[in-house]
Amino acid sequence: MRSVAVLISGRGSNLERIVAEVGDGCLSGVCDVVVVVSNRSTAGGLEIARRAGIPTCVVPSRGLDADAYGQRLLETLEPWRVDALILAGFMRVLSPAVIGRYRGRIVNIHPADTAEYQGMDGYGWAFQRRLAETTITVHLVDERVDTGRVLAQEMVSLQGATTLDEVKRRGLAVEHGLYSRALRRWFQSEGRLWTASAGGRTPCAES
Ligand code: GRF
Repeated sequence: MRSVAVLISGRGSNLERIVAEVGDGCLSGVCDVVVVVSNRSTAGGLEIARRAGIPTCVVPSRGLDADAYGQRLLETLEPWRVDALILAGFMRVLSPAVIGRYRGRIVNIHPADTAEYQGMDGYGWAFQRRLAETTITVHLVDERVDTGRVLAQEMVSLQGATTLDEVKRRGLAVEHGLYSRALRRWFQSEGRLWTASAGGRTPCAES
C-alpha cells in the first residue's frame, strides 16, 4: 500500500472524499493518507483531517518565494517518507526542488481542461465564458503550471447553470468521484513500479 501526503490550502472537500474512500471505498488498501499539510492555518481541511485522526502540519507560505517555501515543505515532508503527494486545492506553485524530489509522484486536480485553461479559478473562467461544458482534469505535476501529463478527465455539463455557485456545485460533484478513481488507477498501474520508500512516521508539530 502506498502512503501519501495530501496538500491543501482551503475547504478540503476533495480531501474529505479521499479520506472516505481510503477508509471504506475505492482507495481502501490502495493508499493511506499519513499526513495532511496546509500552507494556511485556517484551512477548513485541517479540521477534516483532525476529525479523521490524520496528523496535520501547517507550513505557512506567506512572504516566502517558491524556492524558500519548497525547502520548508521538503523538510516537513521528509520524515513521513511518503510515496506520493496529492494536491487537493493547494494554492502554491511547487518549487523545482520539490518536483524533483517527488518526480512523477505528484498529482493534482484542476477544474478545467488543462489544455484549454491553466491557473486559478477554472470555474470562474468557465462561467464567464458561459461554456456549455467544462472538463475536470487529474494530472501529474511538473515544473510548469497545469501542464503535466493527464491521468484522467471527465466532462461536466454546465447547461442551464446560471450562477457561479451552480457551476462549482456541479464541478465539485464530478471532481470528488473522478479524483479517487484516477488515484486508484494510478497507484495500481504506475504506483506498482515505484521502488518502496523507507518506512517511518515521525509526527511533526503544527506551527
Ligand atoms: C477544487 O475545485 C480543485 O479542483 C481546485 O481547488 C479546489 C479545491 O476544493 N484545485 P476543495 O478544497 O477540495 O474543496
